[in-house]
Amino acid sequence: MEIKVFKTAEEIGSAVASIFVDEVKNNPSCVLGLATGASPIPTYKEIIKAFENGGITFKDVKTYNLDEYCDLPKNDKNSYYTFMHEQLFNGLDILEENVHFLDGNAEDSEAECKGYDAEINAAGGIDIQLLGIGNNAHIGFNEPADSFTDGSFKVKLTDSTIEANKIYFDENPMPHYALTMGINQIMAAKKIILIATGPKKAEAIRNMVKGEVTPQVPASILQKHDDVIIFLDEAAASLL
Ligand code: F6R
Repeated sequence: MEIKVFKTAEEIGSAVASIFVDEVKNNPSCVLGLATGASPIPTYKEIIKAFENGGITFKDVKTYNLDEYCDLPKNDKNSYYTFMHEQLFNGLDILEENVHFLDGNAEDSEAECKGYDAEINAAGGIDIQLLGIGNNAHIGFNEPADSFTDGSFKVKLTDSTIEANKIYFDENPMPHYALTMGINQIMAAKKIILIATGPKKAEAIRNMVKGEVTPQVPASILQKHDDVIIFLDEAAASLL
């Protein structure tokens, strides 16, 4: 694991965005795995800036998002579909048919998950996977558990995750289930970038980097990937 510590979230955003921009320039039909949440927002802003400055197109880029809530309409203001369009896709020339999400409203969630995994494989796998990390060290919505997960699946969110994310929900209650990519699937990405900022992430970061590899600390599995870069601010790095 390579660990880089920065002073501000904005500096992290610039550094991570330049990795994605270089990838798209070198490999215009690359496959990107994307995350939602607060952590990637500065990165997405910088990617849009790079696009606006010219010399780069996302027309042939394919994206696969990590997760999506269940029982929330696709266009709900809190869906990850809406988040990604507002924070990134609407600012790029990416094609709607090339952006992919798990359908949290699919009647048969198992078939939905299998289909999503098969699509990612058919696209050649993920070149760069962007991750945040939960206060409980979840990645995607792989919550602490007794074993590491494989492909995409339907998950019941933990109280810790509901507590951390319910601030975004005012009118409707936060869903308690989501569809998420699984751990082995995340590990299959050729390169992984994880962003964490703020003191609430410090313990999860310490456990991920210094603790044993255990499904009780889902992000600890990243110790076994040979191309992971962790981008932290000083607060998130404070227990290392
Ligand atoms: C989001 C996701 C989650 C978040 C994590 C951190 O697609 O998969 O694992 O990355 O909950 O969220 P923030 O960045 O809001 O602290």
